[in-house]
Amino acid sequence: HDERTFVMVKPDGVQRGLIGEIVSRFEDRGLKLVAGKFVQLDEELAKSHYGEHEDKPFFDGLVEFITSGPVFAMVWEGADATRQVRAMVGETDPTESPPGTIRGDFGLDLGHNVIHASDHEDEGANEREIDLFFDDDELVDYDL
Ligand code: CMP
Repeated sequence: HDERTFVMVKPDGVQRGLIGEIVSRFEDRGLKLVAGKFVQLDEELAKSHYGEHEDKPFFDGLVEFITSGPVFAMVWEGADATRQVRAMVGETDPTESPPGTIRGDFGLDLGHNVIHASDHEDEGANEREIDLFFDDDELVDYDL
């Protein structure tokens, strides 16, 4: 199958009713949804997901925010999916994200930036994050 990338609508995106809008954007782009899960993260899962930021000053706030309400975790498949999704998501800071990107259109600030997507630069990030959120049998193979 084509490349798979991990994406998650954060609690602010869920609260603001942006799940449908975000799913639509990836569908319109021609990416294939192969897994989706609506989940309330506990502290343990949040800390392992964001483990690379453990030493950052914003870590505690990040864990608190990401566990503050449900998230919608997804796996999208397609040619060069990680890079495609990152381009559609925009920069970490919404004020640096051009209009037309998800964070540029909906993000409020660094913390409340609506969506998480696996890092293109970080090899293994996708596999790690997909494994953390999904069992193998929750990823569905089908033709689009
Ligand atoms: P995300 O792509 O989910 O990965 C780490 C998150 O930390 C990032 O998006 C931001 O939402 C959040 N964050 C909060 N404060 C900062 C900061 N000062 N610098 C970078 N990321 C931050």
